[in-house]
Amino acid sequence: MSPSRGEFSSRFGFLMAASGSAVGLGNIWGFPTNTASNGGAAFLFTYLVLVFLLAYPALMAELIIGRHARANVVTALQGLSRDRSTYLLGTVVGFVGIITVSLILSFYAIVSGWMMAYLIDPLARIAGLQGMASWLTDDGWLRDSTFVILFMGLTVYVISAGVKEGIEKWASRLMPSLVLILLALIGYVVTLPGAGEGLRAYLVPDFGAVANPNLLINALGQAFFSLSLGAGTMLIYGSYVSKQESLPQLGSMVALLDVGIAFLAGLLILPAMYVAQASGVPIYNEAGGLIAGPGLILSVLPALFDSMGSVGLLVALAFFLLMTIASLTSSISMLEVPVAYAVENHGVERRKATLVVAVLISIVCLVIVGNFAVLFDLVVTVTTEWSQPLGGLFFCVFVAWIWNRDGLLREISQGYPEVEGSLFWRIWPVYVKFICPLAILMVYVQLLGLF
Ligand code: TRP
Repeated sequence: MSPSRGEFSSRFGFLMAASGSAVGLGNIWGFPTNTASNGGAAFLFTYLVLVFLLAYPALMAELIIGRHARANVVTALQGLSRDRSTYLLGTVVGFVGIITVSLILSFYAIVSGWMMAYLIDPLARIAGLQGMASWLTDDGWLRDSTFVILFMGLTVYVISAGVKEGIEKWASRLMPSLVLILLALIGYVVTLPGAGEGLRAYLVPDFGAVANPNLLINALGQAFFSLSLGAGTMLIYGSYVSKQESLPQLGSMVALLDVGIAFLAGLLILPAMYVAQASGVPIYNEAGGLIAGPGLILSVLPALFDSMGSVGLLVALAFFLLMTIASLTSSISMLEVPVAYAVENHGVERRKATLVVAVLISIVCLVIVGNFAVLFDLVVTVTTEWSQPLGGLFFCVFVAWIWNRDGLLREISQGYPEVEGSLFWRIWPVYVKFICPLAILMVYVQLLGLF
């Protein structure tokens, strides 16, 4: 372990970094439409229960392993092993985590690149550059590749500066700005005609929809993606937390911030969709569901902004700035996973490691851009539906089945000396040992169509 390993300088710094990782495209365009299409407040309620009963325990597993090992995911898992076979398992799970998070970054950077292009579009239009504006908003491999490289450049800029000067500094600036922009946009949009109907679609519960078995699976997948679980991201952030901090408390604050901002995003997106509908923009797809995903962000909302006249340019600017910030604080947390490994286990200098890893990931991005129809959904599905939950399962197995209970208790009691009599210590070990692995396995059984 290198003596110059970084550490977050304050609790606030960690909270901004970890919630920055958690709050991303998943919260702003995944969560609100998932909620509206799946029974409104009934889904919200199910989601909250899943986050606190299943995702929070898995998040704690990663944070605790990370802080204990003070090392990257591969070394951390190897360090918990008891014998040759668990050592081998740790090595494999660690590397699969690094590959998973790198692939997640490779599709995330493409989508984030779109956000940057749409951020520059209103500026181009204000400057009267119509040709450039349409290049920015029309699909094309040149635009996609250009913005992948620009976005990866920003990510490299932050990560090469290290934990304190890069991740912590930028997350502490960007996350408060994100919340302010989000609140300002909500304040504006809810005053427009049609907004009330959006709020109703979002918040009025339809308990019938919760009985749908796919809903639980959607909600669990959403929770795992949103909390950045199963790929070593939270593990590496945990490895930079001071031993004076209470991890159960920090973890619950991260989960609350993530859920809180997802909830706020719903207060923006759903009203915005129904305002768009009131001004003549279609918001339902052919199957009768709400338009979600790229169609929502890249066509429904821009059509709404266009219909607002010149205020629309400002609103578009604020909205895509929000999306770009959300993306960047997440992408840095992804890049940190392979970079920390290269620095710690191969002695590569941080700037160089960052650049080399980022170039490799960018190449993968460009391959995906060049073969979008074949590769994009495939990479998304394999990483988020398969590798991530499986990774989460193994982190739980390492904490609860391979690590000895005394070592585990000792680690948690650092910064939380009264843990032994706490509710957390009575409940959490049972969750990571039995309930989380079983719940994740059930998702697989369902995915494989076994029942
Ligand atoms: N949580 C982020 C979002 O909601 C995405 C993310 C960041 C992520 N780091 C991750 C997803 C690691 C999986 C693994 O957009």
